[in-house]
Amino acid sequence: MSFRDDLDRAADWVDAYLASLGDLPVAADVQPGDVRAKLPASPPEQGEPFEALLRDLDELIVPGLTHWNHPRFFAWFSNTGSEPGVLAELLIAALNVNTMTWLSSPAGTELELTVLDWLAQLLGLPAGWHGHIEDTASTATVAAMAAARTQRPGGVVYASEQANFSNEKAARLVGLEYRTVPVDDEQRMRADFPLDDATAVIATVGTTGTTAVDPVAALARRCEQAGVRLHVDAAYAGSAWVCPELRWSAEGVDQADSVVVNPHKWLFTPMDCSTLWTRRPEAFHEAFALVPEYLAATESAIDIKDYGPALGRRFRALKLWAVLRWYGAEGLRALIREHVRLAQLFAELVEAEPGWEVVAPHPFSTVCFRHTEADNDEIARAATATGELFVATSKLDGQTMIRLAIGNAKTTEDDIRRSWEVLKSCA
Ligand SMILES: Cc1ncc(COP(=O)(O)O)c(C=O)c1O
Repeated sequence: MSFRDDLDRAADWVDAYLASLGDLPVAADVQPGDVRAKLPASPPEQGEPFEALLRDLDELIVPGLTHWNHPRFFAWFSNTGSEPGVLAELLIAALNVNTMTWLSSPAGTELELTVLDWLAQLLGLPAGWHGHIEDTASTATVAAMAAARTQRPGGVVYASEQANFSNEKAARLVGLEYRTVPVDDEQRMRADFPLDDATAVIATVGTTGTTAVDPVAALARRCEQAGVRLHVDAAYAGSAWVCPELRWSAEGVDQADSVVVNPHKWLFTPMDCSTLWTRRPEAFHEAFALVPEYLAATESAIDIKDYGPALGRRFRALKLWAVLRWYGAEGLRALIREHVRLAQLFAELVEAEPGWEVVAPHPFSTVCFRHTEADNDEIARAATATGELFVATSKLDGQTMIRLAIGNAKTTEDDIRRSWEVLKSCA
């Protein structure tokens, strides 16, 4: 079989998968060990045709997958492996360039810097900041903390008690103490805590629990006065800033030292792609620029490896470029607005139903809700077991809530209404 035939087979497979995805059970119905038990314990001695892999993909792997690209996947923060993203991933693998330095990939480096400037414009971020791509927000925040540490080593990192746990991991990894700050009754980080011993503050726009927006502007003013670095974790909600009417949630971000936004969460880009901007590239450079003999810098060029933890870097800019060009600013705004509308609709359905309540404000596309009497973990489990949808639970003030996070480009109003019917019937 020729590569060309296999390419066609893979294309057919992807096309059929995406076309029938909405009919598959969203979450896998398997127990730990089920998939491994079906896989050979050792690799084949002789090479096998690609077709054999596709067959096993259908028979062994797909039945054990939870389908993140499904229009009724609403767990954690749902996302989209969009068509331009899928196509670009194929090109990225074929090119297989490593964007560690300018010399290792001149066009890769310059495309990445350009696409980050494009995205900064789309999100309304300040012009002239350095932007580059990390694999995840977890890594981007490690980079931001390492940069903050260059100014004040040995201090404390403060973040909301509702902040994502990756913030604590980042502080720990760079050897900084981590302390949480209480939230107000809308789950926003309070801004009146002492900063004397602080190295950095991490504010979140769109917390993982309830998508609350911390008071970034107030924190920025205090950090500026105290000489403390402010990093903004907008991993989920930063994508909303493509819509001017949602930019209230970016207030003060232009006064921060760095910000991370995950296109792999709510900007229709397949895993993984996390975008990081900073007004202080020199601090990142100081933290990360180790230049071995074999990687001598090119004069007047930027080597992106000098701004983050990784040396080898995938050509992720290509897929972000593909996504931004395919949808255009208009297309991105339309999708984000539709998701916000669908979240509003879902919240209204919940509020209108006796025995159910929405438990937190829903400024973006995620609704946190609960049944006031039934066991919400059980409802989520039963709803997911139907195969119709996938929702996850979390806790708020000690009580279980269900989160419905909308983020897939193919999710329709019909998906939302159908999911609500299933949830109600499971209660
Ligand atoms: C607010 C927030 N920040 C950071 C992260 C971590 O993102 P990543 O998985 O890209 O490391 C998450 C993950 O859901 C998140 O919700």
